Amino acid sequence: MAAQKIIIDTDPGQDDAVAILLALASPEDIEVLGITAVAGNVPLELTQKNARIVCELAGRTDIPVFAGCDRPMNRPLVTAEHVHGKTGLDGPTLPDPQMPLQDRHAVDFIIDTLRAEPEGTVTLCPLGPLTNIATALRKAPDIAARIRRIVLMGGAYFEVGNITPAAEFNIYVDPEAADVVFRSGIELVVMPLDVTHRALVTGPRNAAIRAIGTPVAEAVADMTDFFERFDKAKYGSDGAPLHDPCVTAWLIAPDLFTGRHINVEIETTSPLTLGMTVADWWGVTDRPKNATFIGDLDSDRFFALLTERLARL
Ligand code: RIB
Ligand code: CA
Repeated sequence: MAAQKIIIDTDPGQDDAVAILLALASPEDIEVLGITAVAGNVPLELTQKNARIVCELAGRTDIPVFAGCDRPMNRPLVTAEHVHGKTGLDGPTLPDPQMPLQDRHAVDFIIDTLRAEPEGTVTLCPLGPLTNIATALRKAPDIAARIRRIVLMGGAYFEVGNITPAAEFNIYVDPEAADVVFRSGIELVVMPLDVTHRALVTGPRNAAIRAIGTPVAEAVADMTDFFERFDKAKYGSDGAPLHDPCVTAWLIAPDLFTGRHINVEIETTSPLTLGMTVADWWGVTDRPKNATFIGDLDSDRFFALLTERLARL
C-alpha cells in the first residue's frame, strides 16, 4: 500500500515529538506533507520552534513547518508548562533550530494542500488543541469533503479528565474548535486518555529505547524521563503515557488498537464539564455515530514497533 499522506498538527510537547519522530521514521507507511504548529502545551512561538527542533533531530529539515493559531477560537489560551516544562521540550538539551519557519500561515497550508492533493488522499493528524483544524474548516468549508480522515489525540471517557475532572487537555483548551471537528461529518479516529494511559513508558521500555544508543534515542529517553514526573505523581502510573504516538502508530499498525464507532459530542457551555467528550460507548442514545473511539491497545507490540522505528533515525 502507498504511504499515507498526512499533515501533523501539533503543540510539541515531548509526546508530540515522539509521535513526529515515529512518523518520520516510517516512510514506507507515512508521507509527512508538512507540520503545522498550534498553541497548546506551550505558546505558539515555542511550539513552532519545537516542531523544527524535532525535524532537525530526525535529520529532516526538508519537512516544511508552519505556525498557526496562537490562541483558541473563542477563549484565552491555557498552557501546560507544569507537565512539559517551560520550553515544552524539557529533558534533553537540544540546539535551537537552523531550518526556517515557513511564511505561510498553517491554516492556509492546510487549505492549500487539501485543495491541491487528490480528493480523499490526505489524513490530518492533530496532536494538540483543534484550533488550526477548525479554523481551516470555517475558512474553507469545501475542504471537509477532501479530507481522507482525521486521526487525533484528544478526549477521555472512562479515564475522565487530566486538566479538569471532566476534560482532557487538547479538547479543554479549545472546546469550540473540537465541536466544529466532531460535528464536521469527516471520518474521525479518536485516541482518548482511555487508550493513551495504557501506553506507558515503563522503566524497561525506556531503557530499551535508550539502549538504541543514537542521539535520537537518547533525546527521546531524556524527554520521557522528564515527561513522566507529572503522571507518576498524579496517577501513580508506572511511566509516562505516550499520548500522541498512539496517533502515528495507528496509521502504521491499526490492528494494535481496539475501539468502537460511536457518537461523541463536546461540552461547550457548562463551566463544570467544559471540554468533556461525551462518548455514547454503550449506545444509549440514537445520536449519529461520528467517531471511532479507541479504548485499548497491545502495549507490548506498540513499544516494540516504536523502538524498532526509532532505531532507524
Ligand atoms: O492530554 C494529553 C494531550 O495534551 C497530549 O497531546 C499532550 O501533548 C497535550 O497536548
Ligand atoms: Ca500534544
